[in-house]
Amino acid sequence: MKAAFIEQPGPPDTLQYGDLPAPTPGPGQVLVRIAASAVNPIDTYIRGGMVAAKLPTPFIPGCDLAGTVAGVGPDATRFRVGDRVWGSNQGLAGRQGTLAEFAVVDEHWLYPTPANVADADAAALALVGITAHLGLFDRTNLAAGETVFVNGGTGGVGAAVVQMAKAVGARVIATVGSEEKAETARALGADVVVNYRTDDVTVAVKTATEGKGVDVWFETLPPTDLDRTVELMAPRGRIVAMAGRGARPVFPNGPFYVKGLALFGFAMFNASPDQQRACAEQMNGWMAAGKLRATIGRTFPLAEAAAAHRLQEENTLQKAGTLAGKIIVVPG
Ligand SMILES: NC(=O)c1ccc[n+]([C@@H]2O[C@H](COP(=O)([O-])OP(=O)(O)OC[C@H]3O[C@@H](n4cnc5c(N)ncnc54)[C@H](OP(=O)(O)O)[C@@H]3O)[C@@H](O)[C@H]2O)c1
Repeated sequence: MKAAFIEQPGPPDTLQYGDLPAPTPGPGQVLVRIAASAVNPIDTYIRGGMVAAKLPTPFIPGCDLAGTVAGVGPDATRFRVGDRVWGSNQGLAGRQGTLAEFAVVDEHWLYPTPANVADADAAALALVGITAHLGLFDRTNLAAGETVFVNGGTGGVGAAVVQMAKAVGARVIATVGSEEKAETARALGADVVVNYRTDDVTVAVKTATEGKGVDVWFETLPPTDLDRTVELMAPRGRIVAMAGRGARPVFPNGPFYVKGLALFGFAMFNASPDQQRACAEQMNGWMAAGKLRATIGRTFPLAEAAAAHRLQEENTLQKAGTLAGKIIVVPG
């Protein structure tokens, strides 16, 4: 099969495109013919060696996939050949990834793709959607009528946070880095959009909440200013921190506990198959109903996987701001 792979971690050009043997599904596994995979920041960290991981050699990066079941291993009972499926969690914990024509996936990491949802859209929403869902519902237990602030409201995770919060009847304040992205955030359903490059975010949040503060703060960036975050929280508010392994922000202990706040951290890939499936099932309902839509910025052929990784890395590490939406990679 055609695949994009590395022999050892390195810059985007380390990714080679070539032929590898197609994998065979073992017990409880499914062979998926991949129609689309999506690129995430963690793919670039693993490919670049920034996150230490034990990798098979050669290693195919990529967490997200959508496609069609092409084979079923012994004792795999959830899917049949021909079923359309999507999933995430590949390319981690020693598993091969999704920048390939085929992947073997443990069946408990796969979900049926709704008939009216395109493979590219399902792949684009996979990791970021499960992440947003875990943060909003498994961790902070968001309720209708509450106010959510999401920093990075058109990023992969942020765009899913905006739509899921709206789907359950919350009010959403989102930051963006350009007027074009402000339009996108409004189209996704954000009630209040703040340009973090040109507006005073503190003033904008205080105005939007009439000084009452936000109930859930979903930080998709490495946190730098927890004083500001704590100041802008409503009493008993919940803060989600899920990015920036090297971040060491100052923690404003007094105002934090006096307000009765809570701080939740999590890594999506540590959530169990049952936890992730619960997210995926609700996502499927929202995707089928048009309440959760993918924003796709660029699509690359598999042969240009290195260019796809370069674009992700420029935006994640160098903050190029040249990407609006997810990067999709398609075989063939
Ligand atoms: N813990 C987990 O399980 C988990 C899961 C998924 C992702 N992550 C991490 O979460 C982070 C976000 O992932 P992603 O896939 O959403 O990335 P992404 O698609 O690259 O989005 C990044 C967002 O950050 C925004 N941004 C950049 N600088 C900003 C600033 N100064 N103020 C406000 N917003 C700013 C960007 O806005 P503009 O484009 O408008 O500039 C963009 O919306 C990454 O670090 C990733 O590794 C963690």
